[in-house]
Amino acid sequence: MILYDPSARTLTLHTRRTTYQMKADGYGVLLHTWYGPRVDGQDLSYLIGYADRGFSPNPREAAARRDYSLDTLPQEYSTCGVGDYRPASAAAEQPDGSLMLDLRYAGHEIREGKYSLDGLPAFFGGEGWQTLSVRLEDPHSGLAAELLYGVCERYDLITRAVVFTNEGRQPVLLRKAASLCLDLPSANLEFITFDGGHVRERGLNRSLLRPGVQSVGSVRGASSHQHNPFVMLCEPGAGEEHGLVYGAALVYSGNFLAEAERSQFETARLVLGIHPQHFGWSLAPGERFAAPEAAMVCSPDGFAGMTHRWHAAMRECLIRDPLHGARRPVLVNNWEATEFHFTAQRLVEIAREGAALGAELFVMDDGWFGKRDDDRSGLGDWVVNPQKLPGGLNALVRQVNGLGMRFGIWVEPEMVSEDSELYRAHPDWALGAPGRPQTLSRSQLVLDFTRREVRDCIYAALCRVLDSAPIAYVKWDVNRSLADVWSAALPAARQGEVFHRYILGVYEMMDRLRRDYPQILLEGCAGGGGRFDAGMLYYAPQIWCSDNTDAIDRLRIQYGTSFCYPVCAVGSHVSAVPNVHTGRTTSIETRGVVAMSGTFGYEMDLGRCTEAEKQVVRRQIEFFKRHCRLIQQGVYDRLSAPDDAFTAWQQTAPDGTEALASVVWGPVHAAGPFCAVRLRSLAPNKRYRVNGGGELYTGAALMTAGLPLPLPKHDYQAWQFYLQAEE
Ligand code: GLA
Repeated sequence: MILYDPSARTLTLHTRRTTYQMKADGYGVLLHTWYGPRVDGQDLSYLIGYADRGFSPNPREAAARRDYSLDTLPQEYSTCGVGDYRPASAAAEQPDGSLMLDLRYAGHEIREGKYSLDGLPAFFGGEGWQTLSVRLEDPHSGLAAELLYGVCERYDLITRAVVFTNEGRQPVLLRKAASLCLDLPSANLEFITFDGGHVRERGLNRSLLRPGVQSVGSVRGASSHQHNPFVMLCEPGAGEEHGLVYGAALVYSGNFLAEAERSQFETARLVLGIHPQHFGWSLAPGERFAAPEAAMVCSPDGFAGMTHRWHAAMRECLIRDPLHGARRPVLVNNWEATEFHFTAQRLVEIAREGAALGAELFVMDDGWFGKRDDDRSGLGDWVVNPQKLPGGLNALVRQVNGLGMRFGIWVEPEMVSEDSELYRAHPDWALGAPGRPQTLSRSQLVLDFTRREVRDCIYAALCRVLDSAPIAYVKWDVNRSLADVWSAALPAARQGEVFHRYILGVYEMMDRLRRDYPQILLEGCAGGGGRFDAGMLYYAPQIWCSDNTDAIDRLRIQYGTSFCYPVCAVGSHVSAVPNVHTGRTTSIETRGVVAMSGTFGYEMDLGRCTEAEKQVVRRQIEFFKRHCRLIQQGVYDRLSAPDDAFTAWQQTAPDGTEALASVVWGPVHAAGPFCAVRLRSLAPNKRYRVNGGGELYTGAALMTAGLPLPLPKHDYQAWQFYLQAEE
């Protein structure tokens, strides 16, 4: 519910449990007065303190009020260069070189439904959403900003976006255009980020905000393995079930910056948006620029409450499901089994073993096209390699279909190898500045996706492949970070637009793919989880979570991922042991339990398993098929953290009728203690049977006292406990 109080000039956004409020004061400054647990019927600006602070300047029109300074007041969308020294939300360079930007309130509109953003991913709204549009103007430059807010009451979710318009007579250069600014009255908060690198994505890090600005971001052209565009602020010591928590996600897959400041007056500011480094967007008179969407959730009841809201909102209002609610297929992917070295026959063997055990989709990974026997050549030549697939793609797909399996394919459309027909024909299509040697990574260059003709050529080649055989799934990979970001298609003054235009190009092509092949399930991938963000989820309903398939390392990666992103989005497979990344051997049971908390599949030749292991695999697939809805759509709870003696998590049906708790032990010590795990989200008064056993336990007991665990017999032993409520 969005309310405007004309006498107080407050705009209040209520969700079920939270309230967000701003107020246009007498000077037209849009103050941020509150974000937190719900407060009804109150102008919350009484909380704002005014004092004459040294070195905090006063705007001209408030010159007589020494206690009035943009430097001390909470701002809804912070200005630049006019007396607020905390992180600016936007910066614009005028033709005279000045960088000042002072955006003031100039009106608003409240609408039913949710705004959308042309060419950018965004929560698509639905029933019960409302939009607030606030107009801000900088009278001195003619630059106007429309602050957009989408309110989803049900999930306590507020989305934001900003659209700039140059209404002046001179061109301006936008140098920063953040999507979200959040000023909070107390800096006694912890800043939580999800960090790591390739094969160790999204590890949780939390620390108290310290004076100054702390930031995470990416200038790699993708949201990155190193940091994720989802961050949180919380009360010190907040836990799964207690404490005030704020989460903010950028619905964007390119460069980003998240800045959190503890200010001199012990207030906090979070600014989130496109990274300003390498960014500059020219706006001629009359032109507009839309900053990507950001979304916020405030949870008054700890991290679990935050996760429940994000997962539900993303599943229902962000991820577009090509299967329309039907269960996602259990897949077998040949990558770790064969890498580049396979024949059609070998692929069919791997598919046959999978089909016999119940898998439903076979995915042919890298190596099927052009000259691609290793990762040094072939990217860009999207034609089947006749040596590997002599009968062509259609014949292979028919064979796989004949096994009762659907067929999926791997592509890396944004890249080109120097050793490829495409590069030989169009060397200028790769990003890179004239006269400067390009940086290679995995021996490949990046195609200039800002250019329509480049995208059209690649898209046409992909269409020829997709039209040649019944293909049900595409894994869209990207295996390097961007460098030498310079486009031959743009003048010198517009090179600051390349990073963003690149991502817009990726989105445009993914959108075309969705439109032209609505039945195809798209899986995002960037060397595993290098582009795992809310923006990508708008196009690709699932994303390969990490190239690291070691079950124990995955516990940590999936734990971090789970704070924001729902299980149905997390690409997760069982792979062979010893694991290629860690050398660790875990049992097939443990690998299955971990992979099952995702899209589920096998990244191995199941023909290499022992008969006993095959029986386990068959049971795993059956179990997953039976409980997929609970696993992927259920209410998700983390029951312990990966540093604890065991890692446990739970999915529960929203009506509390069933639940699945999964537990994986760490290293075992002799004569260890008996442990119990406290469950969550159950119906306290229902009585549950565990794994079909004879005893019944009340939900209250299981949540308060816990479920006892067996003593582990070896390192990394895993269990699943399926709970069913008695009628
Ligand atoms: C990336 C992906 C892997 C695999 C390889 C193929 O690393 O994340 O799953 O597809 O590329 O080259």
